[in-house]
Amino acid sequence: MTFRVAIIGASGYTGGEALRLLAMHPRVEVTAATSREYAGKPVATVHMNLRSVLGSIKFSELNLEKIVSEADVVFLSVPSGVSHTVVRRLVEAGLKVLDLSPDFRLKNPRLYEEWYGFRHGEPELLAESVYGLPEIHRDEIRNARVVACPGCNSTAAILSLAPAVREGLIELEHIAVDVKVGSSEAGRQPSHGTHHPERANVIRPYEAEGHRHVAEVEQELSLLCGRELKIAMVPHAVGNVRGALATSHVWLAGSIDETAVWRAYAKHYGKEPFIRVVRSGPVKYPDPKYVVGSNYCDVGFAVEPSRGRAALFAAIDNLIKGAAGQAVQCMNIMLGLDEREGLNFLPISPV
Ligand SMILES: NC(=O)c1ccc[n+]([C@@H]2O[C@H](COP(=O)([O-])OP(=O)(O)OC[C@H]3O[C@@H](n4cnc5c(N)ncnc54)[C@H](OP(=O)(O)O)[C@@H]3O)[C@@H](O)[C@H]2O)c1
Repeated sequence: MTFRVAIIGASGYTGGEALRLLAMHPRVEVTAATSREYAGKPVATVHMNLRSVLGSIKFSELNLEKIVSEADVVFLSVPSGVSHTVVRRLVEAGLKVLDLSPDFRLKNPRLYEEWYGFRHGEPELLAESVYGLPEIHRDEIRNARVVACPGCNSTAAILSLAPAVREGLIELEHIAVDVKVGSSEAGRQPSHGTHHPERANVIRPYEAEGHRHVAEVEQELSLLCGRELKIAMVPHAVGNVRGALATSHVWLAGSIDETAVWRAYAKHYGKEPFIRVVRSGPVKYPDPKYVVGSNYCDVGFAVEPSRGRAALFAAIDNLIKGAAGQAVQCMNIMLGLDEREGLNFLPISPV
């Protein structure tokens, strides 16, 4: 059986990456790709890497009734504040929804006013949506109608910390996450801060107070440890186009050594198809350079028992494991397919 997939917001970076991955997926046919600006033009007009692929697909206006009749699955690759206005029609028609935007990530609807500045229009759908991180919510994703794919910084932050939080290896009061992320995280539309001459060669903290991803990272880590947890998180814009690295600074809860940390990461990630625990070789710690172009997340750690501290790392490609690849992984789970279908490729190197 072939599943029909529509992408809303297909002219952007995550939409383009979803098009690329789905074009290679053996069980999927892309039936619609929306863009208000490029409606009527071939997708390769914007995504030149897709020349000669998806040749028959042109961008179309967003027409929900048409999508309902043409698709079994919908990817929403749109800015915040859009998805919550369209998802009800899609799920009521029986479509499976993968929302790459933040609209269905936070379980408490009031948090949308605080963090995103809009009133959430679908609190009931929000309550049933599932946070799309398979390493934590695989079983719930299987039966979900709406999966909220995590942000890229959040994916790296949560995956760096999850085993340590779950196993009680660290003090939960003092977690500081530093994320470095490439320019494609900001989307296709340039702003003063993201326009190439301003952004190239930078190592620049941004939104150091109140970055929006803090809310979802706290939500998910709190679920893992069973109590309300607060973190400090500062993202940094770096000159790479792709890639995100989370370095989580933590204090050890008692006499924890490297073996205990290794055991916890092996226990939680040993069977995960897209997580590699890294701790040897000339590059001992995770680096986005060695995951870019793939759905892998490399995790690792540095443990200093004499100082009672550790640094926990996770490296991803922000557009793949941090966005479109994660959405494909969740889609596979929702459709009962092998989770690796369409994602079974290695990082490119050198990049
Ligand atoms: N970039 C990343 O690394 C990353 C990672 C994880 C999650 N995300 C999230 O994924 C979403 C998309 O990010 P992106 O980087 O792909 O952004 P982007 O490059 O700016 O693309 C946004 C897309 O949404 C469409 N769009 C904008 N406003 C719309 C509206 N009101 N109704 C319908 N379509 C609309 C745009 O096309 P038209 O204007 O032509 O319609 C475009 O196709 C965001 O919510 C972002 O936070 C991004």
